[in-house]
Amino acid sequence: MLSNRQLFLLHIGQTSSTPLMLEIEKAEGIFMYGPGGKKYLDLISGVSVSNTGHRHPKVVAAIKDQVDAYLHLMVYGELIQSPQVKYAERLCNLLPDSLDNVYFVNSGSEAVEGALKLAKKYTGRSRIIYFRNSYHGSTQGALSIQGSGIYRNAFRPLLPDTWQIDFNDESSLESIDRKTACIIVEPVQSEAGVILPDKGFLDKIRKRCTATGALFILDEVQTGFGRTGYMFAMERYGVVPDILVLAKALGGGMPLGAFISSKRIMSSLISNPQLGHITTFGGHPVCCAAGLASLNVIIEEGLVDSCRKKSALFKKELDHPLITEIRGEGLLLAVALKDPRYVKYAIVHAPDHGLILDYFLFCGDAFRVAPPLTITGSEIRIACSQLKTLLDDTLKNAKKK
Ligand SMILES: Cc1ncc(COP(=O)(O)O)c(C=O)c1O
Repeated sequence: MLSNRQLFLLHIGQTSSTPLMLEIEKAEGIFMYGPGGKKYLDLISGVSVSNTGHRHPKVVAAIKDQVDAYLHLMVYGELIQSPQVKYAERLCNLLPDSLDNVYFVNSGSEAVEGALKLAKKYTGRSRIIYFRNSYHGSTQGALSIQGSGIYRNAFRPLLPDTWQIDFNDESSLESIDRKTACIIVEPVQSEAGVILPDKGFLDKIRKRCTATGALFILDEVQTGFGRTGYMFAMERYGVVPDILVLAKALGGGMPLGAFISSKRIMSSLISNPQLGHITTFGGHPVCCAAGLASLNVIIEEGLVDSCRKKSALFKKELDHPLITEIRGEGLLLAVALKDPRYVKYAIVHAPDHGLILDYFLFCGDAFRVAPPLTITGSEIRIACSQLKTLLDDTLKNAKKK
């Protein structure tokens, strides 16, 4: 009989030649467990998904309750399903008044696709502006506005009339004009290696969009749900987009995405043609039940406020001669090392030290630290001590290669 490892290599579509390849049998809180009970402290949360940890009891209970009531019933938008409407109401109550209409989908990429289509339909314009080193997903529309030529060029032709500008370059915002349907931006550029916006930069985008009638799409797929120490990063930067894109932690560990706008803007998807944007599984009731339960946990357990303190503790505890900088806010941190070689060694050998780390797509000299927001102060101290041992190992052994 073939091992799971062999089956993985034989039958699972691969995304790179160097997968992490850890076999996981169970996950609970901030830990994952491999065969024989080998324990790993999860420092990436499935890339900003498990904000309330793995299998939070309240999320598991909500999933079980919903499974006992119904699974999929009908394509999105036809039947009234309690988990969908309750979750939409909860989200809208948390968001600024103008974001009062939720379109649920299955993933971040799909939410981005929906947001782009909505902007084109509402404005009657086609140009889409995006930022260098941005990541909005891997489907063809999202790929067309991915801020890396290496990825775009391999899959051309892509969407026409897209325009790339530089993050934090105010002068480039002049390219937002009356031909522009929308500009899409991550409030914090995550895959670029956690690049924060300069003071007032997002506000300048907002103002330029208001002046030209272009829609401002904010992609909070990675920054949402407390990750940066605010429920949504837009609160931190004092901006309200025309369309907000959410996914990852939105589903509490289940696949769920959403684009959220005003009822007025969203209404443009209703007609000419009818059913111009539809999805079979979008807003799956089990995913919405899980997401709502997870959001309630974030609020009840005060995970947004404590996130900022936890971030400070990480920054204080994590000192090592190899570290050149710890960038970021909340629990979305990029730990920069002196050389990309060290980053690779540290990520590959992290499991030997009981840790799970990961790369950023567009930043070779840093690794990601984004644990579940439920991590405690003492667990942060343990994680930092394990990280320092890993970096000692890296300093000693990575050089030899
Ligand atoms: C900012 C951002 N937008 C969109 C996406 C795409 O989300 P998904 O992988 O769910 O399609 C991601 C995924 O990493 C992301 O980080």
